[in-house]
Amino acid sequence: MQEKYGIVFAFLGDLPEEERPPLLDVEEYGQEGWRANRILILEVDYHYERSVENALDPAHNEFVHPTHGFSGVNRETYRVRDYDTEDHTQGWGMWFMHRFDAPPLKGKTWGDTRTVSGDLWAGGGTYGPNTVITHINIMPDRGFRQYFFEQPVDENHTRIFFLNMRNFMLSPEQDGPIHARNKAIAKQDIDVLNDVYPTQTPSSNARELHMPADKAIVAYREWLDRFRDKGWRIDLEEFHRRNGKDTAFAIPCPDRRTSKNWVIETVPLMEASEESADVTLVAS
Ligand SMILES: [Fe+2]
Repeated sequence: MQEKYGIVFAFLGDLPEEERPPLLDVEEYGQEGWRANRILILEVDYHYERSVENALDPAHNEFVHPTHGFSGVNRETYRVRDYDTEDHTQGWGMWFMHRFDAPPLKGKTWGDTRTVSGDLWAGGGTYGPNTVITHINIMPDRGFRQYFFEQPVDENHTRIFFLNMRNFMLSPEQDGPIHARNKAIAKQDIDVLNDVYPTQTPSSNARELHMPADKAIVAYREWLDRFRDKGWRIDLEEFHRRNGKDTAFAIPCPDRRTSKNWVIETVPLMEASEESADVTLVAS
């Protein structure tokens, strides 16, 4: 267990400490020129993978967030520019950035005389299965770094701890309005995600129609497959087949690896693939 960024993190499982994903390093946290908002906690009624995928979708802003500036619905020529994904430098996920269209942006709200148009970048990536990072550069040197730590409650409920970092509008008086705005924007996403069906990501990408803009989502799912192949994913079918009938399951602790005769069975996991048994995922 570890307390960081105003959040308590707990690792639930029996992996030895050296094999566990290290806590994500929020490099801006505590740095001069950056300010953190207090954590915004969101309780949502869908699987965390759907929530992560929403954050990775570069096409949704123009359709879901009026605050973006214009609507993709009214612009038939609107297209998401092509972009590439790569493995994240901290070694536990994927990353992408893309240039997006937005109306010219005036900086006078925060005492900046510049107007910027046509060179706005946004994107982000994943860290482990349930942390997503968003970078929004509203000017080349002004932006937000947003960290969403998505706590799975069960397959249909997620508690999101949202840490927002910014390098402009640094006065404490701006915290309240930014917090309120983030909450309003999150609600726009939540309203859409509440109606997404199925509520979990499908077992195969062939069950959904993916467009080129969905490249980031596909890359995230490839990382989920890697974690599953390590034998880390709960086997929900098996869990539901037996849980509460004649069985109660427990989350395993590291002591299970060294001592025997435990009465309560551990949560069933999907089988590791043989090829991935030798692959060690480590922070780089
Ligand atoms: Fe959104």
